[in-house]
Amino acid sequence: MSRKDAKIAVSHGKVTVNGAVVKLSDHKVSESDEILLDGNKISKNKHIYIVLNKPQGYVSATEDESQHTVLELVPPELFRKGLFPAGRLDKDTTGLMIITDDGDFAHRILSPKKHVKKSYAVTLDIPVTAEMKEAFEKGVALSDGVCKPAGLAFGGKYDCTVTLFEGRYHQIKRMFGCFGAKVTALKRISIGGFSLPENLPEGQCRELDESELDLIEKDR
Ligand code: URA
Repeated sequence: MSRKDAKIAVSHGKVTVNGAVVKLSDHKVSESDEILLDGNKISKNKHIYIVLNKPQGYVSATEDESQHTVLELVPPELFRKGLFPAGRLDKDTTGLMIITDDGDFAHRILSPKKHVKKSYAVTLDIPVTAEMKEAFEKGVALSDGVCKPAGLAFGGKYDCTVTLFEGRYHQIKRMFGCFGAKVTALKRISIGGFSLPENLPEGQCRELDESELDLIEKDR
């Protein structure tokens, strides 16, 4: 069940804690509490959600014969079997990456149908133009089809922020390639309403808390 559906179930009085109906989804429970949904016992959250500030030089894979993978950056206390990166960043792309063992969650934030937006700070080798912005907003035609409309906000002469609602192979690099531009730096800065924590250094991971998880699926 998605977090949103869980909140609705709680507000509709479908959840009891130790036999009493609770109607507030921020109700605190402990390990020993018995929680029922529609009269059926549920177990506590068994998944883990990790935010990584990805450095360059790591591939978004669970294993690789010759290259370092992002999973190597997960510290032993957070590591467990079944972890995988929820979405790919290129080897030379940096920034926000979620690592989890929850396939349903990954599907919800990656499926183009769910419209969870991802924003990237981009630097080009040539100036960013109004023509690029206009084309991104309409939908750039790539060899594998026309992209969904994307956002482009101007930054410095060579910098901008691009917002995508899908994730294709090398998408941003290929979109700018249509204008003869080369991406010289690419960093993912947000997913949904959640931004890369400023105090998380490159190469470091930490577990996400409940409110951060909510933000990821909010503000699509
Ligand atoms: N677009 C790209 O070209 N590369 C990434 O890593 C992410 C988006």
